[in-house]
Amino acid sequence: MSTPIQGFSKLSKEEKIDWVSQTFTQGDPETKSLLTQYWHEDKELQKLHDEFIENTLSNFYLPLGIAPNFLINNSLYAIPMAIEESSVVAAASKAAKFWESRGGFKTEVLGTEKIGQVHFFFQGDPEKLKSFFTHIKPILLADCVSLTANMEKRGGGISSLSLRDKTSDLAHYFQIHAVFQTADAMGANFINSCLEQFATTLKREVPLYADFTEEEKSLEVVMSILSNYVPNCVVKATVSCPVEDLEGIDGASGRVFAQKMVQAVAIAKAAPHRAVTHNKGIMNGIDAVVIATGNDFRAVEAGVHAYAAKDGQYSSLTHAEIVDGVFSFWIEVPLALGTVGGLTNLHPLVKWSLSVLQKPSAERLMEIVAVAGLAQNFAALHSLVTSGIQKGHMKMHLLNILNQLGATAKEKEQLVAYFKDQTATHSLVVSSFEALRKNGRL
Ligand code: MEV
Repeated sequence: MSTPIQGFSKLSKEEKIDWVSQTFTQGDPETKSLLTQYWHEDKELQKLHDEFIENTLSNFYLPLGIAPNFLINNSLYAIPMAIEESSVVAAASKAAKFWESRGGFKTEVLGTEKIGQVHFFFQGDPEKLKSFFTHIKPILLADCVSLTANMEKRGGGISSLSLRDKTSDLAHYFQIHAVFQTADAMGANFINSCLEQFATTLKREVPLYADFTEEEKSLEVVMSILSNYVPNCVVKATVSCPVEDLEGIDGASGRVFAQKMVQAVAIAKAAPHRAVTHNKGIMNGIDAVVIATGNDFRAVEAGVHAYAAKDGQYSSLTHAEIVDGVFSFWIEVPLALGTVGGLTNLHPLVKWSLSVLQKPSAERLMEIVAVAGLAQNFAALHSLVTSGIQKGHMKMHLLNILNQLGATAKEKEQLVAYFKDQTATHSLVVSSFEALRKNGRL
């Protein structure tokens, strides 16, 4: 058992590593060499990364890949993806190529509203609170002018401000509910600054309101924070084609394949256990692009899953139908993203990813990210309703296993060829590798 340490954050990076090494690995020199091995040799670049978070010891690499051939609204994109899971980039690329020759992806941003709330308790007459709110609403907005001026120049700002009575959910609980437009920024800092200003104004104005009793003047602000639930910051991405254009997939007729896809989506709509995995596959695509473009994937994840449960049961984010012989497959997903501010101007690879995406607006990035999610779901369901995922997945996983086993480049080449036409299960890869090492052949 280690003892608590005081002033850890004040130690230098080297001292922190020494402490961790002494305390948790008996001073094993491996700790230091492992952590320093991942430091960037360019000291300025390393300093940049060190300062992203606190108590930085090293860098944690994620592979950055790219999925080409995405035809989106008649323009071609190559989509950068940062993810550790094998098969995801391959699946995205496969789906992109598949739809590129079938009209590509069509997208539409359905809304860009962000939300924030001041949460407070008020014990008194709700009608008086309503009158008070009408009285202070212009003051709340006026007090925010220095914060909103710049955002308004960029086409954003505060779109509405309302009082919400939440007392049927929790005694004495009310909210100031604010709706924002944040242009190309994700907007968290802007929103939270406005909300904290609202809270300050509220606290200042309550004691001055003559109609309030002393008890009513004890209105208590608990917190002010944006909501990551953004059901009106939503984008839709669609692919569609005549069922005949799906002919020949896994030897099935186009109609049979399309029907299986529709059934697979229907199952995810009906069964939460399946919906979670179905949506997890979608998030493989979404998160990878969100991370590559320096956006907050935890915020996106939280908002997306809340949206998936908005009708009372956790359900599929994608939809599918066959109407008049045309198969359509689409996603509607809330995505609060930014292409300015935050990491977007700081992390060199994020800047690069955004330039590969042709420096998109936040709305265009929403479209691209939704497409990546839809493509991923199409690829997953395509495999699941035909050959199953293990065949392709294990093939991609083969290289990971061979790397873990320490296979040489030549051995990898031989084993990849060997598993070309058979399923690469973990145990079969290990035994084949051992046989190759022992006998020099397979
Ligand atoms: C694996 O990361 C994702 C899938 O399980 C998604 C799905 O089942 O739809 C293949």
